Amino acid sequence: MGNLDISEAVASIRSLRASVQDDDNVRRQLKSELEEARKLLETPVEALWALLYQCVPTTALKALLDMGAIDELNACEDSLSVKVLAEACGADERIVYRLIRPLAPLGVVEELPGSLYRATPLSRLLSDPGFKGGYVFVHSLELKAFAGLPYFLQKAGYRMPTEGPGPFQYSLQTEDSIYEYMAKDGDLMVHFGKFMARSRAGRPEWFNFYPVQERLVAQSVGGEPHSDALLVDVGGGEGHDLQAFRNAFPDCPGRLILQDTETVLGNIRTLDAAVERQPHDFFTPQPMHGARAYYLRQIIHNYSDGEALEILANVKLAMTPGYSLLLIDDFCLPGESPPYYPALLDVVMMAAFTGTERTQAQWYSLLDRAGFKINRIYRDATGQEESVIEAEPK
Ligand SMILES: C[S@@+](CC[C@H](N)C(=O)[O-])C[C@H]1O[C@@H](n2cnc3c(N)ncnc32)[C@H](O)[C@@H]1O
Repeated sequence: MGNLDISEAVASIRSLRASVQDDDNVRRQLKSELEEARKLLETPVEALWALLYQCVPTTALKALLDMGAIDELNACEDSLSVKVLAEACGADERIVYRLIRPLAPLGVVEELPGSLYRATPLSRLLSDPGFKGGYVFVHSLELKAFAGLPYFLQKAGYRMPTEGPGPFQYSLQTEDSIYEYMAKDGDLMVHFGKFMARSRAGRPEWFNFYPVQERLVAQSVGGEPHSDALLVDVGGGEGHDLQAFRNAFPDCPGRLILQDTETVLGNIRTLDAAVERQPHDFFTPQPMHGARAYYLRQIIHNYSDGEALEILANVKLAMTPGYSLLLIDDFCLPGESPPYYPALLDVVMMAAFTGTERTQAQWYSLLDRAGFKINRIYRDATGQEESVIEAEPK
């Protein structure tokens, strides 16, 4: 291909870039095409080196976040020199320069001539406590479990334990689960809570693809013999999902109950007064009987089947057959070729929680063994396979 053809191709991609901003489906389609094109263009050796050192930008960024360099950049409309940035952070100029350079090609910061750096939309996200919290949590805890995973698996003869110590315990030399570990470090739990509140960013809310009016509200809530609870969010963190639900359905009848550990509920700073807080360990019997729905988002994927069955048994005992619904909000993967993000998250679940992202067939099997029948699986339209599985006791 001559130079002319290349410049035409580049020009047409640039013009497409501008025109896809208003249509997310077209944007995603183009992105996927460009990713395929990149795979064709990159040599295997180039791809291998990039893969080997994929953790480096993450590590460099964590140091820049900790010293406050990213917040400094984000606070400034203009570019900053490395010297000014380093002075503001009380850091050695050479260290800042060496850490920030690999971040420019990734779009985390923008590099301008003269070693000047400027914030980007991506760096600005990192001043949001939710995204920053995710970064701190993943870096301080999960990365250690990822690093230890191959050694753990080798030692375990490449078999996943269904209970007892897993890769997290092996890597961090602890007997605690990741939640017990975080509970002993107040800051980490706060970061994790903020991270969870942001973890649906870029994806639709569950009630945008689950028909709340038709499935939850149309049947009257309360009145003998039912409880007047509409929704119990089991392991709902600091209440971000119930808050979003309340904002979307301010007049919805029925109580909204938020359950989590005492530590997590104690971290809540702002939450609608209509959301009731109830400390509850989901490995013990569910105290709210006969609610219209029990909602478990990103809970079951943290656990192996044995532990998941325990949690589900505790919910089931509290449900009123023929009235109460179980709503599991998790990824529900196809049997093959899952999207990249849930496939990544599945390894995260393996390393940090001894849990797993499940395929549709695995959900049917698990819920059947737990004594539930699945009414329907509602899927979001982003192609990420996040789903609300509606089930009731058999
Ligand atoms: C992955 S987070 C999901 C939070 C929320 N449902 C969401 O999707 O954003 C798991 C939640 O379960 C809570 N949790 C962990 N162990 C628990 C237990 N034994 N009983 C109740 N909550 C627990 C954690 O504190 C955390 O808020």
